[in-house]
Amino acid sequence: MTSVSTPNILLVMAMHDEALPIIRKLGLKDMGYLSPSYTFEHYSGHFNGIQLNLIVNGKCKVFKVDQIGTQASTLTTHLGIETFNPSVVLNAGTAGGFRSDSAQVGDVYLSYPTANYHDRRINIPGFKEYGVGVHPTYSCLGMANDLGLRTGVVTTGNSLDYTEQDMATIKSYNGVVKDMEAAAIAWVAQQHNIPFLAIKSITDIVDGEKPTEEEFLENLHQASESLSKQVVRVLQWLTEGGV
Ligand code: ADE
Repeated sequence: MTSVSTPNILLVMAMHDEALPIIRKLGLKDMGYLSPSYTFEHYSGHFNGIQLNLIVNGKCKVFKVDQIGTQASTLTTHLGIETFNPSVVLNAGTAGGFRSDSAQVGDVYLSYPTANYHDRRINIPGFKEYGVGVHPTYSCLGMANDLGLRTGVVTTGNSLDYTEQDMATIKSYNGVVKDMEAAAIAWVAQQHNIPFLAIKSITDIVDGEKPTEEEFLENLHQASESLSKQVVRVLQWLTEGGV
């Protein structure tokens, strides 16, 4: 099995609580804010001799909550790429899964073959496809097979809930992992021709009975622990053999 030859890895995450188990497991050092104007958090360390930079979207200066969603993620990824010139960009985080895909809380998916948007509705020829924005992800089927992880299309929007139209769009491309960042991060990586892979741990079942926000908060800790274990295995896979 081939692995990415990668002198440094950029990991982008939206929520501090999702990132904590990874920071602890990998012994990453808090490097402060990445840039003076933003609250983007930078952590750094090494894995198998490879430099790893983790950027977390940080807290909103006004509302003091994690800056989840595409806006901050686009900027963190851009700054991370400009600063570190990584060979691969990873986005680790939590996401909604689908009963129709037999997803269970704590399952971890790898994005494949694309990350798309479900809430950019522009009903004009050409713009419609641009709105969905199909972004190819790293060819990870071998990795998924080796690690026993699930794969699927990650579908991104800026809402925790969804409209009927969002769901119709998600179904149209068989989206099975619903998040709020992956497609935006994939887009930035694509502009720089850098491979991109999302690793997503399921906190809630989108087409299940429980209200998403309740299920999300209830399972955030468990899903983040599960995420951290699989992120370490992905890093191991990517760095095996070194560069
Ligand atoms: N993150 C965790 N669960 C999610 C969901 N259902 N939709 C979007 N982002 C999420």
